[in-house]
Amino acid sequence: MVRLFTPLLAVPMVLLAGGVVEADPAPSEASTAKMRWVVGSAENVALGKASFGTCMGCHNINATGRIGIGPRIASESYLAAASDDFLIETIRDGRAGTTMVPWGAVFGEAEIQGVVAYLRSLHPVEPVVLDESELRGDPDKGAIVFRNICSGCHGRSGAGYQETANGTGIGRKAFLDAASNGFLRFIVSEGKSQTKMRGFAAKNITAVANLTEQQIEDTIAYLRANAW
Ligand code: HEC
Ligand code: HEC
Repeated sequence: MVRLFTPLLAVPMVLLAGGVVEADPAPSEASTAKMRWVVGSAENVALGKASFGTCMGCHNINATGRIGIGPRIASESYLAAASDDFLIETIRDGRAGTTMVPWGAVFGEAEIQGVVAYLRSLHPVEPVVLDESELRGDPDKGAIVFRNICSGCHGRSGAGYQETANGTGIGRKAFLDAASNGFLRFIVSEGKSQTKMRGFAAKNITAVANLTEQQIEDTIAYLRANAW
């Protein structure tokens, strides 16, 4: 499980092959360390498990998701790419315009951190190194990819479930403001494991379509330019 993502950690060094190999693990270690800070103690997991009873109606038992009602959270690639801050923010503030209401009114910070610890315990996986550099995409080109490929599952305007689509509302500001470029790049290219969201990277032979890195940049630029 963990092994699936570890090769990615080696990528930066491979890219240096041919030149002077300066194996400096510091930047990637620093970037993944920032992604995880919630304490995964047994107490925290138990606290979160108890709180998660409130969430199960939509997210199902063990956070396996209910398509069209609540997304799967126990997804290997999702949990590898989602930072603690991203999960906490999503739970605390919700996703405006969807049935994912802000739970910060019901739960305190301790319970929310507990929920994150519990969710991580369902699918222990190492964090991945995300490419958080600035977007290099062209929104006009991305519009074509979105219309032809993504809209079928995420809705024509990216409203997601509300558009009777089976993917979430990726066109919404509430989602895009919380999701980093690195998270979006990773999920679009590698997919959300255990769901119908397969990776679109060129190397992925089971993809619904293969997109170049540039097309993925374009699509994310389109989403950001049209967030509503
Ligand atoms: C009434 C249904 C409902 C309940 C109850 C609910 N959620 Fe959600 N949740 C959703 C929906 C719908 C989304 C996706 C919204 C969208 O389209 O972006 C979501 C998104 C999320 C996400 C982001 C996952 C992703 O892939 O986008 C997390 C994390 C999450 N919910 C956690 C929780 C937790 C923790 C609780 C309980 C405290 C909870 N939810 C209760 C419906 C619900
Ligand atoms: C075959 C249907 C399908 C296609 C095509 C598709 N997606 Fe998805 N996508 C999904 C599903 C299903 C989920 C996860 C929903 C869940 O867990 O309930 C998802 C999740 C996502 C997420 C994570 C959202 C979140 O709330 O965490 C992103 C980002 C995403 N898709 C982007 C895209 C982009 C960009 C495209 C086009 C290049 C695309 N998707 C095409 C079905 C699809």
